[in-house]
Amino acid sequence: MTKKQKTSVKESAFFIKNAFLKPKQVGYLFPSTQALIKTIAQQAQLNKAKYIVELGPGTGGTTRGILAQMQDDTQLVAVEINKDFIDFLAKSITDKRLKLVHDAAQNLKQVIKNQGREATDAGIAAIPA
Ligand SMILES: C[S@@+](CC[C@H](N)C(=O)[O-])C[C@H]1O[C@@H](n2cnc3c(N)ncnc32)[C@H](O)[C@@H]1O
Repeated sequence: MTKKQKTSVKESAFFIKNAFLKPKQVGYLFPSTQALIKTIAQQAQLNKAKYIVELGPGTGGTTRGILAQMQDDTQLVAVEINKDFIDFLAKSITDKRLKLVHDAAQNLKQVIKNQGREATDAGIAAIPA
C-alpha cells in the first residue's frame, strides 16, 4: 500500500453492528485487519490490472487497500449485497476509479456484462461460504 490505511472506530462499529444484524451474510464479527488487507493487495499484483472486481467490500477496508495499489486508469467494481454497506461506502470513499454495485456475487457474470466488459483482470472476494 502506498499510504497507511486506517479503519476508523465509526467504520468498525458499523461493520460490527451489521455482523450482529446479518451474521450469516457478513460472516465475520470484525473487518479485515490492515496487515491482511496489505498482504491481499500486494499478493494479487493489482498494480498490473486494469479492471478489478471486489466481492463483499463491507465497510471498505479492503477496498481502500486495493485502490491504494491500483493505477490511475484502473477501474474497481465493488459488488455488495447489503444496501446499508453500499450507502456507507458511497459516503466514505470518493474515488472516481471505484464503482459500487448493489448486487449479489451470484450475478457476477451479468454485473461484468453491465459494465461493458467480458472478464476481469483480478478478483478479490471476502464473502462467507
Ligand atoms: C467478511 S465481510 C468482508 C468485508 C470486507 N471485505 C473486509 O475485508 O473487511 C463479507 C461481506 O460480503 C458481503 N456479502 C455476503 N454475501 C454476499 C453476496 N452473495 N454477494 C455480495 N456480497 C456479499 C457481506 O454483506 C459483507 O459485506
